[in-house]
Order: sequence, then C-alpha cells, then structure tokens
Amino acid sequence: MYIPVVLGTARVGRQSEKVAEFMRRQVLKAGLHTEILDVRDYRIQATDNSETLIQAQRLSEKISGADALVIVSPEYNHGFPGELKMMLDMLYEQYFNKPVGICGVSAGGLGGARAVEQLRLVCIELHMVPIREAIYFSMVQDLFGEEGGIVDKSYSKRVKAFLDELIWYAGALKAAREKT
Ligand SMILES: Cc1cc2nc3c(=O)[nH]c(=O)nc-3n(C[C@H](O)[C@H](O)[C@H](O)COP(=O)(O)O)c2cc1C
Repeated sequence: MYIPVVLGTARVGRQSEKVAEFMRRQVLKAGLHTEILDVRDYRIQATDNSETLIQAQRLSEKISGADALVIVSPEYNHGFPGELKMMLDMLYEQYFNKPVGICGVSAGGLGGARAVEQLRLVCIELHMVPIREAIYFSMVQDLFGEEGGIVDKSYSKRVKAFLDELIWYAGALKAAREKT
C-alpha cells in the first residue's frame, strides 16, 4: 500500500514540516510505502483543474496510485492554508473513494482542530472518506525532541488509533474500488 503524507503549508519556517516527517516515519514503520507531497512542489498561480498543468500531472500520478492520504495541516485564522486548497483543487476523480486522515498543527492548545473540521468537508466534496480519528499536534514548537521524536508518550497511542483506522479503510475501499 502507498499512503503519502501531504504537507499542507508552504510557509517559511513552518513547524508542520516536523509533523509531516514524523507521520512519514510512522507510516513507514507500519510497513507501507509513503513519501511527503509538499505543497511547495505543486504551487500554481491560480486554481485550474483542467489537468493541463505540469504540477497537476505530477500530482495526478501520485494521487492515482495512493490507497489513502494523510494530510498535515496547520491552522491559519481558524482555517487551513490556501495553498493546500489550491493543491487539492487541481484534481478530482483521482481522489474518489479513498480514505483520508487529517493531522492538525498549532502553536496553541487546540492542535488545529478548526482547520481539521473544515478540511473534512472539502474532502467529502472530493468523494474522499475522511476517517473519524485525527491527530492534533498542539504546542508544536515544544513537541519534538532533537531526533524528530515526540517525548509525550500519549502520541504513540493516538498514532496507532489513527493508522489502524486509516489502513482498515484503505484495504476495504481498495477492494471495493477493484470490484466496480
Ligand atoms: C497566518 C497565520 C495564522 C495563524 N492562525 C492561527 C489560528 O487561527 N489558530 C492557531 O491555533 N494558530 C494559528 N497560527 C499559528 C500556527 O498555529 C503556528 O504557526 C504553528 O507553528 C503551525 O503552523 P506552521 O506549520 O506554519 O508553523 C497562525 C499562524 C499564521 C502564520
């Protein structure tokens, strides 16, 4: 199975990059193929879903081959970043009937919960299946140790619940897609 991790902000100095790398390692540890899909590598001037853009063609190859997505998104002014929306908007059918798990990131205590909720609605419109589990990386600036690990032991439980659910849906929906 291939489950890429979308890094949803292009901001210089982004803390979310640490979260995306942490999640990439967790997916890898679960024995799956993965990589980070960075919004910086898929930036466009204006929204265009015609798939004529080279960025869309590159993204299409990745998303078409994906069995599920992990999206890492910070919360900016109670929403998710505009560049993430522009990246998602480049494609459509490639997302159909694939599960998506969302990780919120914030400097404060809520872990990007408001951005996560909004992003779920967008994913539904793209015919994805947002899972119930989410991981909220709050106080992100204090969360990671030098090796990119998290000292707070409660995160390993949260990651397990998140990946267990995502992988279950990835298997179930893959089988269902192959039947139709
Ligand atoms: C434009 C902007 C708006 C922000 N708005 C919020 C917010 O609404 N809620 C919040 O918890 N943090 C907010 N933050 C702080 C982020 O949580 C913080 O930057 C955190 O490190 C995650 O984002 P990053 O990956 O860009 O670093 C905002 C940051 C920026 C740059």
